[in-house]
Amino acid sequence: MRIAIGNDHAAVEMKMEIASYLKEKGHELINVGVDTKESCNYAEYGEKVAELVASGQADCGILICGTGVGISIAANKVNGIRACACSDPLTARLSKQHNNSNVLAFGARIIGIETAKMIVDCWLEAEYEGGRHEKRIGYFTEIENKQKR
Ligand code: RB5
Repeated sequence: MRIAIGNDHAAVEMKMEIASYLKEKGHELINVGVDTKESCNYAEYGEKVAELVASGQADCGILICGTGVGISIAANKVNGIRACACSDPLTARLSKQHNNSNVLAFGARIIGIETAKMIVDCWLEAEYEGGRHEKRIGYFTEIENKQKR
């Protein structure tokens, strides 16, 4: 898969470890940064990854900040993005199966690297179930369209 990955200063090491882990598994990574610990605005990197996913230049996205919260909120401001901040593998799996999440977020200050790898694996392996979830997911788009007035 082509995976866009982005982070803020709180998550440089974890981003690098996750990117290497995914490359070893054969994925193509698009790293939007940051790669230094200089203080930055996580929202910019959430937006960059979200734009790559929404435009189809990436198949999905992974975002990491201190908590996973701020960067996922930023990503969700881009139309077509369903970003989910997860601290456990079950939430990650269900966010794909039920919510068709296309961006996964987590927090480098909240979880350790082994949990992060497990979350990433569960999320990438899971598939959207469709069916009863279709109408609910469709309503996300209706909400976005209402904002365009
Ligand atoms: C940065 O200090 C921190 O606020 C950020 O990484 C993140 O946790 C925001 O949601």
